Amino acid sequence: MSASGPAPGQTEAQWRQEIQQRVVRDERPQTDDVLKTKGNDFEDYFLKRELLMGIFEAGFERPSPIQEEAIPIALTGRDILARAKNGTGKTAAYVIPSLERLSTKKTHIQAVLLVPTRELALQTSQVCKTLGKHTGVEVMVTTGGTTLRDDILRLSQTVHVLVGTPGRILDLAGKNIADLSQCTTFVMDEADKLLSPEFTPVIEQLLSFLPKERQVMLFSATFPLIVKDFKDRHMVKPYEINLMDELTLRGVTQYYAFVEERQKVHCLNTLFSRLQINQSIIFCNSTNRVELLAKKITELGYSCFYSHAKMLQAHRNRVFHDFRNGACRNLVCSDLLTRGIDIQAVNVVINFDFPKNAETYLHRIGRSGRFGHLGLAINLITYEDRFNLYRIEQELGTEIQPIPSTIDKRLYVAPSLITEDEVNKQNNSGKASANGGSNNGNGNGAQQQQQRQHQSGAPVIPPTQAKFTQTTIPQSQDFTQSIAGRNRGPRQPQQARQA
Ligand SMILES: Nc1ncnc2c1ncn2[C@@H]1O[C@H](COP(=O)(O)OP(=O)(O)OP(=O)(O)O)[C@@H](O)[C@H]1O
Ligand SMILES: [Mg+2]
Repeated sequence: MSASGPAPGQTEAQWRQEIQQRVVRDERPQTDDVLKTKGNDFEDYFLKRELLMGIFEAGFERPSPIQEEAIPIALTGRDILARAKNGTGKTAAYVIPSLERLSTKKTHIQAVLLVPTRELALQTSQVCKTLGKHTGVEVMVTTGGTTLRDDILRLSQTVHVLVGTPGRILDLAGKNIADLSQCTTFVMDEADKLLSPEFTPVIEQLLSFLPKERQVMLFSATFPLIVKDFKDRHMVKPYEINLMDELTLRGVTQYYAFVEERQKVHCLNTLFSRLQINQSIIFCNSTNRVELLAKKITELGYSCFYSHAKMLQAHRNRVFHDFRNGACRNLVCSDLLTRGIDIQAVNVVINFDFPKNAETYLHRIGRSGRFGHLGLAINLITYEDRFNLYRIEQELGTEIQPIPSTIDKRLYVAPSLITEDEVNKQNNSGKASANGGSNNGNGNGAQQQQQRQHQSGAPVIPPTQAKFTQTTIPQSQDFTQSIAGRNRGPRQPQQARQA
């Protein structure tokens, strides 16, 4: 098969079969968050064959629920306002119709895909390139923190899809460097974030550079009321999709550990030694605390990267790129990486600092359990956080349990990565092994894991690089007790309320 299309004479069945044989299937279990579909196939949407090839090569077999809802409508050119859970495939839900509707024979910008952060822009442009690989589409990513000169040079050549953050795209449009006058597709991913006061004036100005006849699509897992105002002013009879009857992901098990501030690092150390972390993201509430914690983790002998908005862009990009590629097991970060970031290997999220609102909580824990897979979210809760914990539980209609002394690996580790011994032990005791974490693994275990990864298609990093020195932590009851006197009160029914 050639890079730009199927080999001459190949039938539909042949080229699809050929792609499927090449793509390693991800055999990890998935939840109804992505499995509960109407049974559509990508072929049902009459997409260009080159686009279908990119979709299948990306390992997508069938559309997810949000893709089933959004793609056929988006293909008609109608405005869309879509809400669906984290990690359920919203990106492809707008990228696929955007790519289908543009013509690569034309040389002007035909789609602008806006996202709130630079890392997300890089990731989203990569999705466009992967899915559009055989279509000949030219995708450009532009964000702050890079020189305008490179963008000017790039825009002197053909660009069909412009992916970026609002400030830079407005800059390019305002200076007549990017011509958006024929751009008929305008997407806002993480739309509620893009419509927060810091971005709204920029978005409003940006829209004035686009033609009146344009398709506007808004996607997010969270839609507070501020979106309504934008909808009324800038969208025409949008087709509204809400796939969030319940708010949290089915595959993500959530626990809290009640700690004092000064016990947090010790607690984290305990978690590292007990959990089978494939990759983890650890959130702090300030850039300062990100750096302090990263230093502490390194002193404890664990490998970790860190990232926050005050770092040089080149360093941020490097960290993001290397972490994605499995160069390090743990990433400490601020809310910079809370939204949209998709790293399939992350199976554990730790809120070292508990977030202040439900949206942030939802997006943070949604960094694990991508595309219906299993994940674990652990929240370190101090006395001051207790009301926030209760409020967020209420708002999300979810229950965050106190952390048990042992956590069943089957809740967050791919079955192919749990040894038979462990399964037997868990079956016998009903609990997971307390000290079998991969972080303590030896080289032999790493090899076995890599072999298993190969079989399952799930991304895995070998266990040996995590711990440089061995520290033994006694089991501490402090972290596992429930919050004394915590009045849960009657739980609100789960509802599709504004998260
Ligand atoms: N139809 C599909 N089949 C298999 N995998 C898919 C499919 N659609 C998307 N994915 C994969 O699912 C993962 C999550 O997708 P994506 O990042 O688009 O989720 P999202 O809904 O935008 O999440 P978030 O709300 O966190 O931004 C990605 O790794 C993507 O490649
Ligand atoms: Mg997304």
